Amino acid sequence: MPTHTDPLQPASTLAFVHAFPRQRLVQGAGAIDRVAAEALAEGMHRPFVVCSARGRRSPLFARAIAGFEGGSDAGRPVIWDDVPLHAPLSTTLEASALARREGCDGIVAFGGGSVSDMAKGVALALAEGDGIERFALRHEHGRIVGTPSTAPKVPLVAIPTTLSGAEVTPGFSLTREDAYKVLFRDQQLAARVLVFDPQVLDGMPYALLAGTLANALAHGCEALYSSARTPVSDLFAREGLARLVAGADAAFAENGVRAGSGADDLLLGSYLVAAAIINARTALHHATCHKLAPVLGASHGEVNALVLPHALAFNLPACPGVAADLARAIGATDASTAALVERLERYARAAGLRRTLREFGIARSALAEVARRIHAEPGLTFNPRPIESAAQIEAMLQQAW
Ligand SMILES: [Fe+2]
Repeated sequence: MPTHTDPLQPASTLAFVHAFPRQRLVQGAGAIDRVAAEALAEGMHRPFVVCSARGRRSPLFARAIAGFEGGSDAGRPVIWDDVPLHAPLSTTLEASALARREGCDGIVAFGGGSVSDMAKGVALALAEGDGIERFALRHEHGRIVGTPSTAPKVPLVAIPTTLSGAEVTPGFSLTREDAYKVLFRDQQLAARVLVFDPQVLDGMPYALLAGTLANALAHGCEALYSSARTPVSDLFAREGLARLVAGADAAFAENGVRAGSGADDLLLGSYLVAAAIINARTALHHATCHKLAPVLGASHGEVNALVLPHALAFNLPACPGVAADLARAIGATDASTAALVERLERYARAAGLRRTLREFGIARSALAEVARRIHAEPGLTFNPRPIESAAQIEAMLQQAW
């Protein structure tokens, strides 16, 4: 099937496939109080709740699971709050062993990307047993290959507390002990219900917001330039990016997110750009972040903020139509790479995030090896500018150093 390459192509010449997950989105202040009812409607009677230790202490977490507490012992939620950064594979398997012992029949994920990734990993291990690495994606001869898991999965209800959008998509990664991120993709593991309550962003520290925002903005950018994009993913990406910058402008004007100051736009924007990458997938930017974050020991968000300008500078000259499209979506002064980068990275700058690889303490001599690892990432398949060698990626990393 030919892919869609020009947003202004006449409709009569279009040919594409766009898949939608079976997914329900519930957004609004107070949506958090509907979690138990939504879970029950999915047939969940004994939820396995995945959250971070910090998330578990939040009043919103108590509200999210309050609806489960009144039932019988058999319906009480089982809570797992050990979610280290980057969702380690070993911890995920420990969690799934507990969920299996306790007879859990569904998963509630309260948190950001690592929580969502671990929740999906638990669901996969519940369905297939501990050897889930056999379903990992690999990059072979310019194609993504992998053995699909066909066993039925328990339903997932997600309450995101960041803009990662991880819960929206069927993709996820778990990190091995050797810091290797194992990638998976399973349509059944996109959350069945998304509960977006703007109160989750209330009071989020500036730096945290800038990092998770960079991740969301990167989803929109990669969706717009990916070789797997469709006219439908373009719509989602454009509107998502517009919502994200509108929400971010409001939040940053008030020195942080407050209810009613951008939180609704930020959450809806994060959903829309994540929905765009379900079909458009991600490319060089995310391949780079996946390999860099564990090496740097930094959060996915902060690494996104660092990489985004460099991935754009690498790709945009190869797709001029996309630059104009992106400029319109985010309200940049013009479609030059410099103007686009300025518009997108102002939040990370304002928040004082680290802007060079050097500041993360990585030696310049280590970049060649990191580039070699990035070059083996499945996501490069969808990059608009062909990448023939790891040297091209190393040159980008040198720029970022
Ligand atoms: Fe991401």
